Amino acid sequence: MKDFAGKITFITGGASGAGLGQAKLFGGLGAKITIVDIRQEAIDKAVAELKSLGIDALGIQMDLTNREQYTAAADKAEKHWGGPPQLLIQTAGVNTFGPAEASTFEDYDWILGVNLHGVINGMVIFVPRMIKAYNIHNGAINKDGGHIGIVSSMGAFDGFSTDAPYSVSKAAVNNLAFSYYDALKPYGIGVTVQCPANINSNIGEAIKTRPAHLQNSGYYTSEGTMNMLKSIHAQGMDPIELAGHLKYSIENGLPLSLPHDPDTSFVRRSLEKVINFASVEGMERVREEERRMAEMMKNMPEGSPFGAPDPKFGPVEVFGQAKADLDWVDDSKKKH
Ligand code: NAI
Repeated sequence: MKDFAGKITFITGGASGAGLGQAKLFGGLGAKITIVDIRQEAIDKAVAELKSLGIDALGIQMDLTNREQYTAAADKAEKHWGGPPQLLIQTAGVNTFGPAEASTFEDYDWILGVNLHGVINGMVIFVPRMIKAYNIHNGAINKDGGHIGIVSSMGAFDGFSTDAPYSVSKAAVNNLAFSYYDALKPYGIGVTVQCPANINSNIGEAIKTRPAHLQNSGYYTSEGTMNMLKSIHAQGMDPIELAGHLKYSIENGLPLSLPHDPDTSFVRRSLEKVINFASVEGMERVREEERRMAEMMKNMPEGSPFGAPDPKFGPVEVFGQAKADLDWVDDSKKKH
């Protein structure tokens, strides 16, 4: 897809952060924008901002883990614009951090529910509609049958001790995207999965959208852990710049967008680590790298690659710890 003017566009998580950046960028190029989000207030604010920029925008509140709500939102947008999306961007996502061994079913259900099943819901609801509306069924390649963008994460390429549900969800979403990339070629529908590192967004407050029935968590979270995350994300890439990287990949039909890893060195290191896992010699290299990383972290000013937290976000606490009462978790990993 090269020309975005007039394209019917549907963006999940479009009321904030990366999704709002996409709405501004593609809307600014003349696309017709639907943003869907779980937070009505954020939608109202975002739609007002988009309209003030001259963007043709529709906001719909829904929880993308709820298939009935998702289908109703898809119907509503289709009725409004006169067709299903030509550009579908699945951006909504959530995270929370803690030791893998402290994780509860609810930690997995919430994060996988939004980050993986939300994207699966989008695929199952929209792909048939997009194929029927825009594509040639005789095997010929329609050059512009639409495009599907998905926001994953650099976390897709590695599993860290405190992000098991998140990195699982993102690794799965990458393979989902690559499966659809392959499958949708005959219909001329492109698929791009974007894997960012740090984005200047509101994801540090994601636990505020965690549903009541999935509150049981093994991870320690507080205003302080949220403040710490907010301070870190404030240093992230601007959402409109990030959307520009997605646009480039869509225009060029690239299945993968690596906005923070232009020379692919991070991804290469992650893949190399996995290969090293399979041999005795490889594991020696892995351990050497772990020692090097531990040394580097020790020598980092403020003990973090992000430096001292910005006091404007309020008092901070370390994130990624387990709750104090989990008696099987090592003391060093627990909140005291
Ligand atoms: P954000 O929190 O600013 O935006 C995400 C939006 O998704 C929010 O407006 C939220 O209300 C919405 N949302 C959450 N649960 C939902 C649900 N069940 N149904 C509908 N909407 C829901 O966060 P950000 O950073 O813009 O996140 C966008 C994507 O970027 C996510 O997939 C995230 O995993 C990914 N990402 C973020 C990074 C970061 O540093 N912020 C780094 C790498 C990837």
